[in-house]
Amino acid sequence: MQVIASAPAKAILFGEHAVVYGKPAIAMALNKRAYVKVSENVDNKIYVDIRDLDITGYLDFKNNSIKSDSPKKGILKYILSSIKKVHDGSGLNICIDVNIPIGGGLGSSAAVTVATIAAVSAYNKIELDESEIAKYAHEVELEVQKSASPLDTTVSTYGGLIYLETDAEDIIQLEIDHDIPVVIGYTYTRGDTGKLVAGVRIRRDIYPEIINPIIDLIGSVVEEAKEAILNDDKKRIGELMNINHGLLDTLGVNTKELSNMVYTARNTGAFGSKITGAGGGGSIIAYCPEGIEKIIVSLKEIENALKADISKEGVKIKVYN
Ligand code: MEV
Repeated sequence: MQVIASAPAKAILFGEHAVVYGKPAIAMALNKRAYVKVSENVDNKIYVDIRDLDITGYLDFKNNSIKSDSPKKGILKYILSSIKKVHDGSGLNICIDVNIPIGGGLGSSAAVTVATIAAVSAYNKIELDESEIAKYAHEVELEVQKSASPLDTTVSTYGGLIYLETDAEDIIQLEIDHDIPVVIGYTYTRGDTGKLVAGVRIRRDIYPEIINPIIDLIGSVVEEAKEAILNDDKKRIGELMNINHGLLDTLGVNTKELSNMVYTARNTGAFGSKITGAGGGGSIIAYCPEGIEKIIVSLKEIENALKADISKEGVKIKVYN
């Protein structure tokens, strides 16, 4: 028996950082997916091969440890923690294609986590609904990263466009029937989400009367952006992205490289562009209803870029007997 599960990457369209203070955020699932294939290993070992990242290793279930010579083996922690939720420790071959730039704020670890939980649970004939997969995946991110909002794992599980408030009971999936064509510009400089979130908190403690209104303003941008997206008001979506970027800059999470990409995208035809995710490195998102190829070429001249659109599909599982 073999199971293949996949789950999408994500990009935050509006509201990062302010979401930490209970403001809403809007994120989209991208049509870039991580794939996880699970089959039996008769050696009774749990072997992982992440083909596109050139990472291999064995997971020691009993001792909760990882044996791997790969310098980038950190991602194996997510896989070990994921399978522990839904597996008894018997032999498995796990073959993964991530297909998403890692460390770029695009939710690669969440996509791998969601797809691993889905594949291994289906392999073990454990029926999980989407809310259970999302819950386990968020627990895994918390175990490995210590702090994480449920945004990445929620978007990866459900797909589509998600409006989320950290202290809300329910997530809201925004129903749209138009595309959201974007270009993601990314650096290989990883922003440390924990440190960036802590940095904003420190500035907020020092300048509460300045930073609190900025956080409130980001919340207002998100509310306006929700309406603009639902109405497919392209000009407004772009303008609100630019405003959101300016507000993120005032929170201190921008970098020269990100700024360079943001303005390059705007100057070559993007309707709007901003940091996506925690900042401090990582990625930008440019909204490109027109002239997408030109924008990609201009971003590739300075950093890396990929074209993406919204993926309506969240986690998917296929079982081969
Ligand atoms: C990081 O992708 C988004 C932040 O808002 C942090 C979080 O929501 O956990 C910066």
